[in-house]
Amino acid sequence: MPTAGRSFVKRRGGLVNCRGRRPAGLSVPRSVMVHEASAPTMTNFRDHHPRNAAAAATRRHVLAISAGLAIGGVFAAPPAGARSLPMATRPIPHSGEQLPVVGLGTAANFSVGADEGRRAALGEVIERLIEGGGKLIDTASSYGAAEEVLGAIIPPEARGRLFLATKLENADMASGAPELRRSLDRLRTGQVALLQLHNVSRASQSLAAFRDWKAEGLCRYVGITTTSDRDYAAAEAILRREKPDFLQVDYSLAERKAETRLLPAAAEVGAAVLTALPFGRRSIFRAVAGRTLPDWAEAFDAATWPQFFLKYLLGHEAVTAVIPGTGNPDHMADNLAAGRGRLPDAAQRRAMAAFFDAL
Ligand SMILES: NC(=O)c1ccc[n+]([C@@H]2O[C@H](COP(=O)([O-])OP(=O)(O)OC[C@H]3O[C@@H](n4cnc5c(N)ncnc54)[C@H](OP(=O)(O)O)[C@@H]3O)[C@@H](O)[C@H]2O)c1
Repeated sequence: MPTAGRSFVKRRGGLVNCRGRRPAGLSVPRSVMVHEASAPTMTNFRDHHPRNAAAAATRRHVLAISAGLAIGGVFAAPPAGARSLPMATRPIPHSGEQLPVVGLGTAANFSVGADEGRRAALGEVIERLIEGGGKLIDTASSYGAAEEVLGAIIPPEARGRLFLATKLENADMASGAPELRRSLDRLRTGQVALLQLHNVSRASQSLAAFRDWKAEGLCRYVGITTTSDRDYAAAEAILRREKPDFLQVDYSLAERKAETRLLPAAAEVGAAVLTALPFGRRSIFRAVAGRTLPDWAEAFDAATWPQFFLKYLLGHEAVTAVIPGTGNPDHMADNLAAGRGRLPDAAQRRAMAAFFDAL
């Protein structure tokens, strides 16, 4: 349907043009508005046990969640009790700000160029994230066109409801400042929530420029990332010296080295933890191919393998949020369900690890 010289397509939640923008005069999608009015505010993650939280569930959540989970195949619907719960949140230790525990990674699926159909599908992933009570989106200056695509497809009215995290390759003022400017321009924002130094590798790396940018209001939090155990010692040294607001580290049921030193160090310095690569770039699914979930997964409301893998991570007290990457709206909905219902306790997590190691 041509509008003001641009072409708009029908998408769940309203009309958008090829850049994901809604035509002027059209209303904000109901899902977005309703979410703002009733965003979950629970402060204690354990309070999300069905016994305690079911009363707080709203009809909106029930509708959004059941719509998002109509996936079929091996991805069965979760137990009815868990479906009706709101997304859990956890506090960012340095501020107390609550962050929904399931977010979205953009490394693998968001560098799609100008393709209108693929951008529309990614727009739907973001709609599902917001509808499902999520807000965290993790990207990087080095993820191809991902920042630019995000900038184009995030509707202006949804921006205030998102927690945008990006990463820079350069920590020094001379080369980091133009890189940051480019990221902000591409994301079409004057401020990101979180600015991370991508893949630290030397203990001497300083976050001084990042702190200056935070003081200038270009970001609200600073952090570091690592996804190689070769660099964990450097990451720990930086964590202890610089005390950043966030640590992002690779952590999955198949790759648990972060548990030894990095997660305890993050807890000690009060760094929020985001877990990258929760599915090992999908390789973790090969280990369970053709297998059904063990019956005991029901005890912590895991109804699918992705939920099983994400709930293992969220069961660790140092973990603030998981950021599985997806370009598939149904996968987004499935992943979001991991942020609802009970989590495995220490004994159940040991059983999950033993089960996985024996596969
Ligand atoms: N050094 C660093 O800082 C660093 C390094 C790596 C990653 N990261 C961050 O961590 C995020 C996650 O890592 P990743 O995206 O590379 O790998 P990942 O999250 O471990 O796996 C992503 C893959 O899993 C699939 N998937 C997601 N949800 C699924 C579901 N419910 N059912 C079936 N398949 C599902 C996705 O395919 P579909 O698109 O088909 O769903 C995608 O191919 C990244 O996007 C990035 O933000 C950071």
